Amino acid sequence: MTQDELKTLVGRAALQYVVPGEIVGVGTGSTVNKFIEALAGMKDRIPGAVSSSVASTERLQALGIRVFDSNEVRELAVYIDGADEIDGRGYMVKGGGAALTREKIVAAQSRRFVCIADESKKVEFLGKFPLPVEVIPMATQRIVRQFEAMGGTAQVRQKDGQPLVTDNGQHILDVTGLQIREPLAFESEVNQWPGVVTVGVFAHQKASVCLLGTASGVRTIA
Ligand code: 5RP
Repeated sequence: MTQDELKTLVGRAALQYVVPGEIVGVGTGSTVNKFIEALAGMKDRIPGAVSSSVASTERLQALGIRVFDSNEVRELAVYIDGADEIDGRGYMVKGGGAALTREKIVAAQSRRFVCIADESKKVEFLGKFPLPVEVIPMATQRIVRQFEAMGGTAQVRQKDGQPLVTDNGQHILDVTGLQIREPLAFESEVNQWPGVVTVGVFAHQKASVCLLGTASGVRTIA
């Protein structure tokens, strides 16, 4: 099976976690796009979704799924999202699509986080995928030096020759060369650096369940 087919497989499999009658939290990325396509088939059984990005909002609305502001909803039963890396404990690196801040917000208001990914995302330790960190631009160079002191190399993500601007009007640093052995402690530390909006380690908001697309079908890791 191709990577695209594996994404379709887990995107469809995630439907079983959607609670009829309840608003669903929706992440961002190519795997989530498969989930959104599948969700359209049961749109009459849910009031709608809370979305983690402008891109997902547009996709949901184009398929006739109502999108609620996160402030309109107290708690979500489930949040479905992809990952750039996931380890055996459900800790993840996310933000390859630059939506990490809103993803963390929606994950925090959800009782359950269902991660959908093809098997290439499963790792023993986080850190191989360049770690996305959303930052306030005036703090960029100091944060770059803080990562250097940790052994990492941080670069401002570019789009069309310019720094990429997130849905929140900020920039993204991609950090290579880190081995994140203690994701909870790492996330807590980097989060308190002034100018860091969100670090792409999802340890405090880890996955409750991971649906991994493999050549032999969907493997569920809970
Ligand atoms: C976006 C994300 C995505 O969930 C992550 O990048 C995985 O994307 P894809 O499903 O396209 O591989 O965190 O910010």
